[in-house]
Amino acid sequence: MPSSCDNLIVRAFHDVIVEKTSRVPGFFKLSIAERLEYVRKACGLTPQEVELLSKVGNLTLETADRMVENAVGTMSYPLSIAVNFLVDGQDRLIPMVIEEPSVVAAASNAARIMRSKGGITTEATEPIMIGQVQLLDAKDPEASKRVILAHSEEILKLANDQDPFLTKLGGGAKGLEVRVLDSPTGRMVVTHLLVDVRDAMGANAVNTMCEAVAPLIERLTGGRVSLRIISNLADRRLARARVVVPKEELGGEEGVNAIVEAWSFAAADPYRAATHNKGIMNGVIAVALATGQDHRALEAGAHAYAARTGRYLPLSTWQRNQDGDLLGTLEMPMAVGLVGGATKVHPVAQLSVKILGVRTATELGRVLVAVGLAQNFAALRALTKEGIQLGHMRLHARNLASAAGAEGELIDKVAEAMVRERMVRFDRAKELVEELRSRGEK
Ligand code: MEV
Repeated sequence: MPSSCDNLIVRAFHDVIVEKTSRVPGFFKLSIAERLEYVRKACGLTPQEVELLSKVGNLTLETADRMVENAVGTMSYPLSIAVNFLVDGQDRLIPMVIEEPSVVAAASNAARIMRSKGGITTEATEPIMIGQVQLLDAKDPEASKRVILAHSEEILKLANDQDPFLTKLGGGAKGLEVRVLDSPTGRMVVTHLLVDVRDAMGANAVNTMCEAVAPLIERLTGGRVSLRIISNLADRRLARARVVVPKEELGGEEGVNAIVEAWSFAAADPYRAATHNKGIMNGVIAVALATGQDHRALEAGAHAYAARTGRYLPLSTWQRNQDGDLLGTLEMPMAVGLVGGATKVHPVAQLSVKILGVRTATELGRVLVAVGLAQNFAALRALTKEGIQLGHMRLHARNLASAAGAEGELIDKVAEAMVRERMVRFDRAKELVEELRSRGEK
């Protein structure tokens, strides 16, 4: 594993350590080179790592070819750093990979506001993933269930024989559950292996175990096993975040109430809950991408968990606490890993882990859930105030200004003029570039 950032976030640009913090006012105003220099100092990046991040394509074709089949090239996305995060008392710089404007700025802004009452606190369960073995054609499903349960120890031992290394690390198959399900094609007996996967995402370990125990389950029951696969509804591997935002930060009680009402809308309506949860996933998935996680697994787990009661609900809650401040919580499955997969193979994913300064998968999950909560807060705050279009428009305006030929400070001048006029269009950007240039502005 790469050495970590060790929480040494240094506010210094000329090798002078002023303060250890992720609170970096005006980070967005710096050039890319200056931002990278900040991260280099804060996280002790080597010259090679700095070069890697500055390169236009940082995944070699050879690595890409080893990762997947039929590779013909690679595709780059922006990697940004969200600042200001204080999670469990630790300053964290947050690497995020995302194509949507405003997400990183919104996360940084939310994290700044959340610092005033000590930042975000988190907790997590043990890293238990579920593997499923589907048994069909059992003559007596209830009797099969009893037989499987009676042989739990033997089944768990066989599962653990597949991965002695995991067992040595304190992980391994820890429990077994059996469910008899009525399905459209008849009754089936589904065995769940509960596997502590430690620092892995777990799919490989769990799938191997499921495949290994299947013949034994068939022998014990006389039935026929079909599917042997991990469940992405990782409801035994949860991460939780909690934050208090003082009412003063929200313009008083009215601001608190507005966010509680926004949450209440999501709690009452799956149409809104889906978008509410999408806002959470904006943050979670951006960090997941930066660190090379299986983000489809995270998405699947999050939405299945949101619907676990039979009704699709928001993953977070926002309430007024006794002091009239805003209390936010988020709980969601967190199937993330630091060993195996793209996290180990992609050099930038490894670098992102170093920048984050996390040492275990559980720690990574706790940071992810904190980012999700901050991102959710940012969206609700914007939606209950000026709406989200203004932030989007600002960035879009800068892109248009640059495409229209503006350079340097002229980009901001053209963009600001378009936002002021509420006319963010390419033809207007071109007009403004010409107009401002003819007045001698640069
Ligand atoms: C946009 O990517 C995310 C939001 O729609 C989330 C939300 O509505 O809560 C702003």
